[in-house]
Amino acid sequence: MALKITVIGTGYLGATHAAAMAEMGFEVLGLDIVPEKIEMLSRGRVPMYEPGLEELLHRHVAGIEGSTGRLRFTTSWEEVGDFGDVHFVCVNTPQKHGEYGCDMSYVDAAFGALAPHLRKPSLVVGKSTVPVGSAERLSRLLAERAPAGVDVELAWNPEFLREGFAVQDTLHPDRIVAGVESERAEKVLREVYEVPIGEGSPFVVTDFPTAELVKTAANSFLATKISFINAMAEVCEAAGGDVAKLAEAIGHDDRIGAKFLRAGIGFGGGCLPKDIRAFMARAGELGADQALTFLREIDSINMRRRGQMVGMAREALGGDTFLGKRVAVLGATFKPDSDDVRDSPALNVAGQIHLQGGQVTVYDPKGMDNARRVFPTLGYADSALEAARGADVVLHLTEWREFREVDPKELGEVVNARVILDGRNALDADLWRAAGWTFRAMGRPRA
Ligand code: UGA
Repeated sequence: MALKITVIGTGYLGATHAAAMAEMGFEVLGLDIVPEKIEMLSRGRVPMYEPGLEELLHRHVAGIEGSTGRLRFTTSWEEVGDFGDVHFVCVNTPQKHGEYGCDMSYVDAAFGALAPHLRKPSLVVGKSTVPVGSAERLSRLLAERAPAGVDVELAWNPEFLREGFAVQDTLHPDRIVAGVESERAEKVLREVYEVPIGEGSPFVVTDFPTAELVKTAANSFLATKISFINAMAEVCEAAGGDVAKLAEAIGHDDRIGAKFLRAGIGFGGGCLPKDIRAFMARAGELGADQALTFLREIDSINMRRRGQMVGMAREALGGDTFLGKRVAVLGATFKPDSDDVRDSPALNVAGQIHLQGGQVTVYDPKGMDNARRVFPTLGYADSALEAARGADVVLHLTEWREFREVDPKELGEVVNARVILDGRNALDADLWRAAGWTFRAMGRPRA
């Protein structure tokens, strides 16, 4: 009999995972403790913007015309316990308030709520990003509280999906990491991932701590790569070099690789910043803090970028103040193709300028509602053109395709001064300059 799957937590990770499991042919039951989310998902609607996810839900959510009916949602732990052979825990682990460590309360609550309902043999699979050592602790919790006892096992299977590519990354993962303590658990996971394994996704079997560490190590490496190129951008600015050319040139070395070498205002979002901090905190607890002190520098290079962008904008406006100046900000989300504004460098820069007295107007293709919620006092416009109307400087802070397609001539008609700063090194400088704009980008020479 085919395995029945449950997915606990239906955020970016869980909603996508649930839909992908249904796409792979399984019967899936998703649980969330927020009834509104469950209600939306049950109608095939996604509570966030993620390309392709709504289509995937429509293909599988029960009750939608023409769907396979393989995917359902509930708020009942009992139903989840009765239904599932494999339970994926996909809740989030945000940064703790005022501390570097990550907040495990959602994970702990999920395991605590699920365990008493595990009355039949099943595999619980942790997907959340957790401090190393958590899996071992949670497996003890299951052993103590699951009525089925030794027939319930834990596996740790970290997730590497990127927002904006979540569907593709989940259906076609570039690797599957299985942290297991038994062959039985490994066998179940191989069955769950039979389709991607068959397509060639590498399946890496590890112990618990290694599986947990793979995730934080991968995100730390990515953060390091971005901060490395941003540090090079600082040196390029001082030396009159061009960081985009430098990145292109070093990227041709395939040991280095061209990806994640785009200099700009740095990384944000719900993962990279909090993961490197939680990793440092955990290493400290384990007595290995020296090993990760470099991440402190990675973090501070990254945070410095935001201030540097603010400085560049101030300089572009004549030097000493934002007072009485109109600043157009293109982009609010932490990256394109997402509506996520968590720790968004773009919104942070917009906020800093606003707090320093600038008249900031923001436009983002998908992030407006979330941005308004986080920063209600900023000005918001319905299009790039409207945001730019009367602006003394335009800041390009999230590299949406829509902004690359803006016609510099048209935008030039509505601004007060044709000055654009590219905080993402994604616009075509020649095009803007040809249309009479003063164009500046981080780590690149002034023309
Ligand atoms: C990141 C990882 O890339 C995923 O592999 C991981 O699964 C996920 O975190 C997670 O932990 O769940 P994500 O947060 O969606 O994914 O975003 P990224 O694509 O990694 O981008 C992070 C930030 O880095 C963005 O603000 C982006 O603008 C910035 N970035 C990226 C740069 O500044 N330069 C680059 O060259 C690349």
